[in-house]
Amino acid sequence: MHAAVLHQLGATPAYESFEEPVAGEGQAVVEVAVAGVNPVDVRKASGAYISGPPPLPSVVGTEGVGRIAGDGRRVYFDAPVAPFGAFAEQVLVAAGAPIELPDAIDDGVAAALGIAGLAGWLPLAWRARLRAGETVLVLGATGVVGQFAVQAAKLLGAGQVVAAGRDAEMLERARRLGADAVVDLGAVESGEALTQAFREAAGGDVDVVHDPLWGAPAAAAVEALGVGGRLVQLGQSAGADATFPSASIRGRQLELLGYLNFLVPPDVRRAAYRTLVEHAVAGRIAVEVERLPLAAVADVWERVQRSAHRKLVLVP
Ligand SMILES: NC(=O)c1ccc[n+]([C@@H]2O[C@H](COP(=O)([O-])OP(=O)(O)OC[C@H]3O[C@@H](n4cnc5c(N)ncnc54)[C@H](OP(=O)(O)O)[C@@H]3O)[C@@H](O)[C@H]2O)c1
Repeated sequence: MHAAVLHQLGATPAYESFEEPVAGEGQAVVEVAVAGVNPVDVRKASGAYISGPPPLPSVVGTEGVGRIAGDGRRVYFDAPVAPFGAFAEQVLVAAGAPIELPDAIDDGVAAALGIAGLAGWLPLAWRARLRAGETVLVLGATGVVGQFAVQAAKLLGAGQVVAAGRDAEMLERARRLGADAVVDLGAVESGEALTQAFREAAGGDVDVVHDPLWGAPAAAAVEALGVGGRLVQLGQSAGADATFPSASIRGRQLELLGYLNFLVPPDVRRAAYRTLVEHAVAGRIAVEVERLPLAAVADVWERVQRSAHRKLVLVP
């Protein structure tokens, strides 16, 4: 079969032939219709991801949509069984893991609702326990996860939603998706001025920060949180380190909450995924999807590292 194969840690995967998977006991083969592309795929291929380096050679890609070989059920899947991955014509998964999809949802949208959609939704709904009327600051609101987070905040009843990012076009899109105010991280990059910009856009204290950036934006966001505020940390697109004073955390009893899709209990993740599908089918959640042929994997690999600003999916 055709697949995107990693031969060396940190290298760009090659489009070539790979052995077809055969389902063992408790496993299933999925015929892949689309594979979702995510920053985590690049991180896994670098060997630096929390799960450790992948075997070599192996097929890259963590999620996708397809049909179970044999019974034809249309499903969303993640967590492929190595050395197989989603960027291929077929993938191997644990038999009970895929989630069945309704006909009404498009393949590309269903893939986008997985890793990116869950990372937009669960940090607010489940980790921060967002309450109706609270003020939410979404950092990286110009990225795919951030665009989901803006919509999630609105659907979960946030009072004021502030979208922060550098890309002007995507900040406008965040407004159309429901953000009440925007902060341009390109114009004000760090420090007290950025905290002030967050507070002005929020109309006062922020209750919850959705943070895929870390670095200087997160440090400034901490200072915009009010008493009992929560920051949910899910990525480091702006930097691996952030510095803030002890007094800020202690003095306002702030909560810093880590978030990783793959550490969320499976039942919570599955229920959230189904909720996202319902919202998308009903037109309450939107995502821009760009479909590309699997043969273009080298280009796509490069684009996802500099933010494509839309969900890229590969079609084998
Ligand atoms: N913890 C989890 O379970 C989980 C799940 C999914 C994703 N993530 C992480 O979340 C992050 C976003 O994922 P994504 O799919 O939304 O990626 P994406 O679409 O590429 O978005 C990346 C975002 O990061 C911003 N950004 C990049 N470099 C920046 C910098 N130096 N300073 C400020 N902003 C910067 C971009 O802003 P501009 O475009 O405006 O420049 C954009 O908003 C990634 O780090 C990813 O690994 C974590």
